[in-house]
Amino acid sequence: RKRVRVHHLREAKERGERITMLTAYDFPTARIFDDAGIDVLLIGDSMGNTMHGHATTIPVTVDELIPAVRAVSSAARRALVVADLPFGSYEASAEQAFASAVRMMKEGGAHAVKFEGGRRVAAQVRMLTEAGIPVVGHLGFTPQSENLLGGKRVQGRGEDAAETLSADAVALQEAGAIAVVLEMVPAPLAARVTEILRIPTIGIGAGPDCDGQVLVWLDMAGVGDWSPRFAKKFGEVGKALHDAASAYADEVRGGTFPDAAHSFSE
Ligand code: KIV
Ligand code: NA
Repeated sequence: RKRVRVHHLREAKERGERITMLTAYDFPTARIFDDAGIDVLLIGDSMGNTMHGHATTIPVTVDELIPAVRAVSSAARRALVVADLPFGSYEASAEQAFASAVRMMKEGGAHAVKFEGGRRVAAQVRMLTEAGIPVVGHLGFTPQSENLLGGKRVQGRGEDAAETLSADAVALQEAGAIAVVLEMVPAPLAARVTEILRIPTIGIGAGPDCDGQVLVWLDMAGVGDWSPRFAKKFGEVGKALHDAASAYADEVRGGTFPDAAHSFSE
């Protein structure tokens, strides 16, 4: 199986083949998702919430993400590995974004980076692209701006907001972005943006007409007790882990583990 590359994403859009993307934050899950044929693995700053228990993505740092990026890069034999740039690591200037992206690539082994925003980060997208770094955009509900957006809510409702989002998407494309994530956007608007753009759209809570879909893997697999309305549970991995841990505890307490088969007789 050949490595997924940037041009494969564009070709998938042209052929109408859906692109699959999941978050991953460590070696074993990344290896499982890669083996399952997931095209793109994202080390999302959602790691702050899902793995480190923070309430938001605001505290996440480049230093924290890099070991996760390195683990996922080591595991991925086929998937394209995309690293999020966390809050505060790219907004100030193209130079700041470039420095952060270089760390994700040199120290983490990422193939591409993703960051939030439209026209306000177009200069960043352009500079990185000119430097040979593929950039994925992220529009709609952008969690790093949650305080400004007034909470976790659908974006692009109403004609003015829809126009703004479409113009931002086109600006990202013109600046060189290789794809755009659309998060919590009305399905008809996501469909319209997908039709306007030559580059693929990857939806999360953005309806069925995007060129691809992404989910946070714990939501997808059923780990944890909370998941957003748009995230379908495709498994009961949380329950499976719970059951395995309690079966182990039962056998240890009952003295049935370890038995002879799991012991050294001499
Ligand atoms: O951090 C993340 O997991 C993301 C995806 C939800 C797109 O940005
Ligand atoms: Na993110």
